[in-house]
Amino acid sequence: MTRVPAALPTQVVRWHVFPDDASLVANALARVVAAARDAIAQHGAFDIVLAGGHTPRKLYRALRNADADWPRWHVWFGDERCAPPKDPERNSRMAHEEWLDHVAIPAGNVHAIPAESGAREAAVLYARELRSIDAFDFVLLGLGEDGHTASLFPGHDWGMHADSPDAIAVFKAPKPPPERVSLSAQRLSNARKVLYLVEGVGKRDAIAAWKRGDAIPAASITPECGVDVLLDAAAAAAAET
Ligand code: 6PG
Repeated sequence: MTRVPAALPTQVVRWHVFPDDASLVANALARVVAAARDAIAQHGAFDIVLAGGHTPRKLYRALRNADADWPRWHVWFGDERCAPPKDPERNSRMAHEEWLDHVAIPAGNVHAIPAESGAREAAVLYARELRSIDAFDFVLLGLGEDGHTASLFPGHDWGMHADSPDAIAVFKAPKPPPERVSLSAQRLSNARKVLYLVEGVGKRDAIAAWKRGDAIPAASITPECGVDVLLDAAAAAAAET
């Protein structure tokens, strides 16, 4: 059953355009490291949610060299593809290769989605694990060409309701692989900071739709703090039209 409300709750969006991906990645890195310092100073830990796909790779690679209190970091995933843990399709494998295998974050602090168990069971197991924390300190998200974010796709349930589960099983996803697990919109919105990383000309139409106020999945993430969207010039061109 698709439950997409007619009108999305208000989403406060701050757009930031960068001339190239180097400056975009540097800005994202500074935001993550600063947020970690603040969270650890305030409550002794930093809970970050990772985005999948290709765009965040450079940020994860840059995090390898960050001066951070790694033992206090907890890493969660916004979505995962249903494949064995070592499969190159897995977002968790990408994050390990680019970053997690190179820093001293304790293995027990890396909370992978058990997507190898199949979407339905993995969603139940991950929702149970998420009960251990309240608001995320930092949520990283990407944007698909159709306006999807995490694995919340147009025409599917985005889990925007207060009683929506924290994690959703996704089938027939338009972006391969078809079987996935995604955190729901309501759970991703329970965050102190939300940052979208968006690069490339392919994202122009989705950006234009977002700015027009269309009900796209990316617009369903509505934390009180608002969201920041880092765009490169190629993706931002639409913003001017
Ligand atoms: C996934 C992602 C997905 C991604 C967007 C953008 O597992 O595929 O979580 O939501 O962020 O599709 O992907 P790119 O960064 O590769 O363009």
